[in-house]
Amino acid sequence: MHPSLLLLLLLSLPLILPLAASSPPTHHSHFTNHRLHRRHSAAPPQEYIEVTRPLPVDSLTLSCNLSVLSHSFGNTINLPPTNDTYSPPRNCTWTHAVLQLSAASNGSQYDRISGVWLAGAEILRTSTPEPTPDGIFWNVRKDVTKYSSLLRQSNLTLSVMLENIVNDVYTGVYRVNLTFFYYYNATNGTAATNAVNFPLSQFSPNRKSTKLKNSMELNENPADLIIPLSASGEEGFWFNIKSELDAIYHGIQIPLNTYRAVIEVYVSFHGNDEFWYTNPPDSYIETNNLPTKRGHGAYREVQVKLDNNVIGSVIPFPVIFSGGINPLFWDPIVSIGAFDLPSYEIELTPFLGMLLDAKTHYFGLGVADAIPFWLVDANLHLWLDDEADKVQAGPIKYSDPSTCVEREYRFYQLDGKFEIEGERESEYSGWVNSSAGNLTTYVSYKLEFKTR
Ligand SMILES: *[C@@H]1O[C@H](CO)[C@@H](O)[C@H](O)[C@H]1NC(C)=O
Ligand SMILES: *[C@@H]1O[C@H](CO)[C@@H](O)[C@H](O)[C@H]1NC(C)=O
Ligand SMILES: *[C@@H]1O[C@H](CO)[C@@H](O)[C@H](O)[C@H]1NC(C)=O
Ligand SMILES: *[C@@H]1O[C@H](CO)[C@@H](O)[C@H](O)[C@H]1NC(C)=O
Ligand SMILES: *[C@@H]1O[C@H](CO)[C@@H](O)[C@H](O)[C@H]1NC(C)=O
Ligand SMILES: *[C@@H]1O[C@H](CO)[C@@H](O)[C@H](O)[C@H]1NC(C)=O
Ligand SMILES: *[C@@H]1O[C@H](CO)[C@@H](O)[C@H](O)[C@H]1NC(C)=O
Ligand SMILES: *[C@@H]1O[C@H](CO)[C@@H](O)[C@H](O)[C@H]1NC(C)=O
Ligand SMILES: *[C@@H]1O[C@H](CO)[C@@H](O)[C@H](O)[C@H]1NC(C)=O
Ligand SMILES: *[C@@H]1O[C@H](CO)[C@@H](O)[C@H](O)[C@H]1NC(C)=O
Repeated sequence: MHPSLLLLLLLSLPLILPLAASSPPTHHSHFTNHRLHRRHSAAPPQEYIEVTRPLPVDSLTLSCNLSVLSHSFGNTINLPPTNDTYSPPRNCTWTHAVLQLSAASNGSQYDRISGVWLAGAEILRTSTPEPTPDGIFWNVRKDVTKYSSLLRQSNLTLSVMLENIVNDVYTGVYRVNLTFFYYYNATNGTAATNAVNFPLSQFSPNRKSTKLKNSMELNENPADLIIPLSASGEEGFWFNIKSELDAIYHGIQIPLNTYRAVIEVYVSFHGNDEFWYTNPPDSYIETNNLPTKRGHGAYREVQVKLDNNVIGSVIPFPVIFSGGINPLFWDPIVSIGAFDLPSYEIELTPFLGMLLDAKTHYFGLGVADAIPFWLVDANLHLWLDDEADKVQAGPIKYSDPSTCVEREYRFYQLDGKFEIEGERESEYSGWVNSSAGNLTTYVSYKLEFKTR
């Protein structure tokens, strides 16, 4: 059997740069909603929404819910994340889980970046809209079924980071509640329960065959083990990447019965790189003596490395936070991804031949061409063969990714044209002989980028 996996990533971002003298790249690209808001005083709080597809779990029966954290994020700058203890609800049979973040704020405040981690593994990256004196509120609902192996464990640390500054001018405090909702898919599938008197086998008569039928979608076939590649927690679990040289390495020894591996990368871009996809080249800034530090061109690539070789890369979707460009664009409908920033999955199964040697391997994260700053971390999702202590794996093809990034900058004083075209192609395959049989996984990526 040769199930093949073909991942094709095509990204094309046509952008027009403001080059007129009247609109040099602004030093401060953030504005607050405060003075712009147009409602009469004493208006009811405004709800903000992100337009999303309905969650697949909406068709399922709600089994139970669990309120975990309720916190007001006031002047939290430079403070460690807020923690709570997580244990799954007792006597609850569930197959799917949803994390809901309900938040409200009033006053004047900038948009803020925020993250939620369970035992150091990120489960949500989100950003806040900007409040008004009348108040705003919003709800984020995310299917977190892919983190089931963590969600079934007791006494884990649940952490939320939301760095905010409150003073006489910026008065907005973010009030946040987190709730987990657990759903049960009554149609046959694997299920688990935390009740002792509920026989597991009733729901998973044959785990092996269920697994084989399952899709590659992480939420439909959650991993058995999740290992975070994250920071220690004092300053949040994300790594703050300020330049291309800030490479992060984590030594991990994976279990010998791993038959599938995927790395999931969380990323957001801030400071001088918040609008990296519009940054002009340094030569343009220098020639024109512009005061901006938002340079280094308009190409960034988040790279995943294994023992120092790039094995996957991502050009992140340009999520615009609600204070970005013009806050009125995002009032009350925020931009795509602002409440639930996308994470990026890279299939590592073809590399199991290298990883299953009972040795520590180094997983790395970095951002090519980065300027301050990027918040990056990752989760390693591993599927384990419960009928074998050890599986065998071997390579078939590891070709070095072919990369080419072409830059063409033509300008005279402030007028000109910048073009960047990038392409990365890679192909990997490898076999894994587990109790499910000898399976070969093919992965091929093609990344295309064009900005002008
Ligand atoms: C519920 O399980 C059935 C059978 O496995 C599957 O077809 C369906 O997609 C599942 N529903 C959800 C929301 O996952
Ligand atoms: C959550 O569960 C409690 C009982 O445990 C129930 O009173 C409440 O209505 C539930 N909330 C939702 C949103 O389902
Ligand atoms: C779980 O449910 C069973 C039967 O419904 C009940 O006997 C038991 O006391 C419950 N356990 C807890 C911890 O609520
Ligand atoms: C958070 O939960 C508390 C207690 O249920 C509730 O009073 C409050 O309104 C909630 N806040 C938000 C922002 O949902
Ligand atoms: C709204 O903000 C004002 C100060 O800006 C504060 O006095 C008031 O208590 C806030 N209301 C709520 C519901 O937090
Ligand atoms: C969780 O921690 C509490 C208090 O520290 C302890 O009583 C309980 O036994 C722990 N539960 C598990 C499953 O470790
Ligand atoms: C669901 O499981 C039951 C036994 O638990 C079985 O009799 C039935 O055929 C299964 N249905 C499907 C659609 O697989
Ligand atoms: C929350 O947990 C992290 C990781 O254990 C720790 O570094 C941080 O200090 C804790 N936060 C607080 C407020 O204690
Ligand atoms: C493949 O794996 C199975 C289960 O671990 C094992 O019994 C079998 O001998 C392996 N096949 C080969 C050719 O090594
Ligand atoms: C598994 O299949 C691959 C490719 O077909 C083959 O090269 C490899 O030797 C097989 N492994 C085992 C243990 O049979």
